[in-house]
Amino acid sequence: MMSCNVFIFRLEGKVALITGGASGIGEATARLFLANGASVVIADIQDDLANQVISSCQSSGFENLCYIRCDVRDEKQVEAAVNTTITKYGTLDVLFSNAGIMGPMTTLLDLDLDAFDNTMAVNVHGMAATIKQAARAMVAKGTHGSIICTASVAGSIGGSGPYAYTTSKHAILGLMRAACSELGAYGIRVNCVSPFGVGTPLACNAYNIDASQVEANCCAIGNLKGVVLKARHVADAALFLASDESVYVSGQNLSVDGGFTVSISNATTFSN
Ligand SMILES: NC(=O)c1ccc[n+]([C@@H]2O[C@H](COP(=O)([O-])OP(=O)(O)OC[C@H]3O[C@@H](n4cnc5c(N)ncnc54)[C@H](O)[C@@H]3O)[C@@H](O)[C@H]2O)c1
Repeated sequence: MMSCNVFIFRLEGKVALITGGASGIGEATARLFLANGASVVIADIQDDLANQVISSCQSSGFENLCYIRCDVRDEKQVEAAVNTTITKYGTLDVLFSNAGIMGPMTTLLDLDLDAFDNTMAVNVHGMAATIKQAARAMVAKGTHGSIICTASVAGSIGGSGPYAYTTSKHAILGLMRAACSELGAYGIRVNCVSPFGVGTPLACNAYNIDASQVEANCCAIGNLKGVVLKARHVADAALFLASDESVYVSGQNLSVDGGFTVSISNATTFSN
């Protein structure tokens, strides 16, 4: 008779640190990880929002989570977030390095290079710092952990986002592949999730439209019809990469884009 594995709590006993966990994709992932048995540390810079998420999760019966203020541009704050995670929950199994900003919405011809540098500081330098500090903790503890980085469709193609953002998201794939190559020796997996457009504050604020308009625009230009991409769908992909269901998956860029980046019908380009 064939055995059938049923995963109910797919992260039972695991400890996850989620950057950018106060909003959007990070928040949805924090809630999903909690529902799957993980302890969760949210690292973000939006104190009020993060505390609202904590309270909301607690009122749903989840006590095993906390918030630490952490600007990922500052490696000392990243190190403190990792140390807090270990002190509070004993280990670090999963890093969801997800904090990001859209950066300047201008064309290349009008690009403000200080704004470009800040985008790289959050999206690339910040991600390098979180991968480094989480990996150091995992190696020190002998944890065969999972590191998941949020890239984007803009990490694979030009023209789907503004210049600095696209540059930074391409760099994240490089960070992920280099880290995968080095950390495999320690049993640590490193992967990316790369979403298409989701109606989060990042997208709404960048384009000055509301979530339903983001979704309508994405449905119009997206390849896969009949589904509206939500933060929860990206969280589902992160859950797979965090869990033991992906135990031999490393170095992959898991696109959550309905085939947008591999489709010839992807003819619409970014315009400001
Ligand atoms: N929404 C989309 O359409 C989309 C598509 C592809 C990829 N992404 C990526 O998903 C990730 C999450 O974005 P989102 O869409 O959920 O947006 P969001 O704005 O809802 O969430 C981003 C979070 O990152 C936090 N953050 C920003 N700068 C930070 C810093 N310096 N230190 C710590 N935290 C910081 C914000 O406070 C916020 O809580 C980002 O990396 C983004 O680039 C988003």
